[in-house]
Amino acid sequence: MCGIIAYIGSREASPILIEGLKRLEYRGYDSAGVAVVSDSELHLTRSVGRVRGLEDQIIKEGVANGSIGIAHTRWATHGGVTVENAHPHLDDVKQGHSIALVHNGIIENYLTLKKWLEEKGHTFKSETDTEVLAHLVGELYDGDLELAVQAALREVTGAYAIAVVCAEEPDVMVVGRKGSPLMIGVGSHEYVVASDPSAIVEHTKQAFTLDDYSVAKLTRDSIRTSTIDNIEITPQILELELDLGQIELGEFDHYMLKEIHEQPDALQRSLQGRLDLRAGNVVLGGITDFARELATAKRVVFVGQGTALHAAMVGEFLIEGLAKIPTEVEFASEFRYRNPIVEPGTVVIAISQSGETADTLAAIEEAKQKGALTLGLVNVVGSTISRETDAGIYLRVGPEIGVASTKAFIGQLLVTTMLAAFIGRRRYLSQDELQMLLVSMGEIPAQVQSVIKQSDQIKAATSRYVNRDNWLFLGRGLNYPVALEGALKLKEISYIHAEGMPAAEMKHGPIALIDEGMPVVVVATRNSQYEKVLSNIEEVRSRGGHVIAVATEGDEEIRSLTEEVFWVPDVPEPLQPLLTVVPLQLLAYHAAVMRGKDVDKPRNLAKSVTVE
Ligand code: M6R
Repeated sequence: MCGIIAYIGSREASPILIEGLKRLEYRGYDSAGVAVVSDSELHLTRSVGRVRGLEDQIIKEGVANGSIGIAHTRWATHGGVTVENAHPHLDDVKQGHSIALVHNGIIENYLTLKKWLEEKGHTFKSETDTEVLAHLVGELYDGDLELAVQAALREVTGAYAIAVVCAEEPDVMVVGRKGSPLMIGVGSHEYVVASDPSAIVEHTKQAFTLDDYSVAKLTRDSIRTSTIDNIEITPQILELELDLGQIELGEFDHYMLKEIHEQPDALQRSLQGRLDLRAGNVVLGGITDFARELATAKRVVFVGQGTALHAAMVGEFLIEGLAKIPTEVEFASEFRYRNPIVEPGTVVIAISQSGETADTLAAIEEAKQKGALTLGLVNVVGSTISRETDAGIYLRVGPEIGVASTKAFIGQLLVTTMLAAFIGRRRYLSQDELQMLLVSMGEIPAQVQSVIKQSDQIKAATSRYVNRDNWLFLGRGLNYPVALEGALKLKEISYIHAEGMPAAEMKHGPIALIDEGMPVVVVATRNSQYEKVLSNIEEVRSRGGHVIAVATEGDEEIRSLTEEVFWVPDVPEPLQPLLTVVPLQLLAYHAAVMRGKDVDKPRNLAKSVTVE
């Protein structure tokens, strides 16, 4: 949602903070700001727009030479996109302290706290919940920043990751967390604090994640971690498994394109060591201890949001098809507030790239409360969902930086397929059936590569329709969630209106939209519903719509019926979404570039949605 970077050490803070903000900009990018402590004074610079603008402003206005500072890139929740609402926020100067604070998350009781502070004489300059927290720390400050932050956080409900500095203690930084991600990189006589490891890894690989309801007091040579009740805790420092090369753009124009091209390797990594062809087995270390519970489960409920929800919808088909367990999919945001029925034998599976999506996390908490076994299919190692679930499977697709999810989706599909096969083998799936599926799964990375090679052809086809403002995406069965994903990709980065739906649903209303030349993307691979999809294609054509099909290689019938075809190799039905989504990702990418949009940072969006 928002990005936090903070530094304390012997080097100059500003360049480190700006560089870190650039790496974290994908988390939110409507405004940014920096506060540096220098000569026992706070120096604040904030601006609306991208980090580049903040950097220009710092260059123009000059920068304080401090070696301790905090910085933030914002995705607005409380209050519009203005300089006043940008972080860092300061304590009320009338209180006599100079405290600066950056925050990711939402302080839910900020109005109550604000009223209390106003009664005490505080006046506020912004509309944010964060400024209230800065004032609260100031109000409780009595010469010890660590104690003041702990006391303030005890009053707060909601989610937060914060970093706080104070002119009165120029060699101290205090950071804290509950719900929103925050990691502390431990260098030599320096610490780099950030919302995610991408801003830490170039400085140090030793790092740890701060636990919920805990704070860390950092000086250049020491660290003290404690709960917000001041009980000391010992952090577990780990080696970050992230290389700089993984988060650099390299030869590509955009992260989204880079990540689409990384998919074959990402899938290969995800498969590594998990397919035991000789024994005809799927090896999933993270869930082995729960194999019996999974095999005897009465019901599976997938939860997720956005792209992850689409992967979950494929998961529903797969678990029902391969493991024969009744399965449902729910928006995590609906599940959490619906007082869902969770009976013994229910397994709730969260799918999430970031592992930090607030709604998905809350759904998992609800499921745990009600006694469900919870699994997390998550990409970011050590993320909150991966830690809060009973067990899980990592996607292993590497860091995803483009806001539009691509390689994470394909990783979610693969891991869900492996999970379905893992459970299926313990129920009704025969050794032979599994063996055949495993062999086909092993071939998927190369087949994805062959689909990506059609990028130029997909680009040319896209150019013929890119000026059309309304698109439909149709699919049936396992390809229905793929149609939804294709529509989501197109709308989120090109701002073209696109709707995805089951192909049969079109004639119940949306068919009224079809006029001469309207682009209708149909996922029409050879599978159990192929003939039905052909009829839907005819329905589109007879109303003047132009069909862009994703079809099985060599399907001449489809070629004769459609304006454009993108080909995918013939694979078993459960694996088709792994291939059919790829042309739709490329179509969306090319459309966004042709329309001159900011592909990696689409308007109004942020990479991970850590608020409700
Ligand atoms: O990190 P998560 O997978 O939990 O995120 C869920 C959605 O916010 C995410 O997939 C979103 O829909 C993407 N922008 C889609 O490209």
